[in-house]
Amino acid sequence: MRETYGSILPGMDLTNLPGKIIVIEGTDGVGRSTQIALLKPWLEQQGRAVVDTGITRSELAGRGIKQAKEGHTLGRITLTLFYATDFADRLEREIVPALRAGFVVLTDRYIYSLMARALVRELEPDWVRNLYSFALKPDAVFYLRIGVEELIPRVVFSTGFDYWESGRDLHPSVDMYESFRKYQIQLLAQFDPLSDEYSFEIIDATHDVQSIFGELKEKITQVLEGRPKSLFSVIRPETAIAAAHSPARAKPRRAARSGP
Ligand SMILES: Nc1ncnc2c1ncn2[C@@H]1O[C@H](COP(=O)(O)OP(=O)(O)OP(=O)(O)O)[C@@H](O)[C@H]1O
Ligand SMILES: [Mg+2]
Repeated sequence: MRETYGSILPGMDLTNLPGKIIVIEGTDGVGRSTQIALLKPWLEQQGRAVVDTGITRSELAGRGIKQAKEGHTLGRITLTLFYATDFADRLEREIVPALRAGFVVLTDRYIYSLMARALVRELEPDWVRNLYSFALKPDAVFYLRIGVEELIPRVVFSTGFDYWESGRDLHPSVDMYESFRKYQIQLLAQFDPLSDEYSFEIIDATHDVQSIFGELKEKITQVLEGRPKSLFSVIRPETAIAAAHSPARAKPRRAARSGP
């Protein structure tokens, strides 16, 4: 049976959900959409049914959030509750039905970005955790990790600085560039403890697109094949192949334990 982080949405049946939830997390502009656009067809080519979802895409609240954000007047509590509503609607009407039908749910962010955004706006941490405690525990969270100095050119040369991604509500008196920088430093500082608490698999997002894609493919394959995380995080395929062909066949277990 699937587990949540504490509470269960009314009427939600957590039994018989054979699909998998794969989360791609990371801050604004880090490269999540780029990876999801590669991962979805790759999974489909293997005959897997895939649903991709992401924040503000719910029928119930998606349009409302976008409209409300245009006004630049949303308060932090309203914003957080609006995001939670969007997530609850997608969980109930999109994610759980897809899991029941055995789909891979590939999600562009999950609750963690929403928590980070709420935490930098100084909402009470226990309240924030409790708010999102109805979320299903995913099968894997891949966190695309980057520093602000590497992030800035990526954003400058793509979408540019957006009001909310720059945390202008928090830093109205500095220019857009400085606001983005300060806000992203604050967000990244929230992701690190969340990463420990929720056992993210950290991916170095400073690498090129194809290297990240390769790493994600390898790790997602391991998740979908149900290999235990403790093993796949230490045994790399090349290590296993080398061990299998080595004359000292008695050593692979020790090699695995002392791996990187
Ligand atoms: N590994 C990478 N190295 C360099 N540039 C990258 C990399 N991945 C993505 N990019 C570029 O960075 C920009 C942002 O990428 P993308 O839209 O995938 O990010 P995102 O995380 O989905 O952003 P958003 O938060 O706006 O949805 C794009 O111009 C993309 O081509
Ligand atoms: Mg994107």
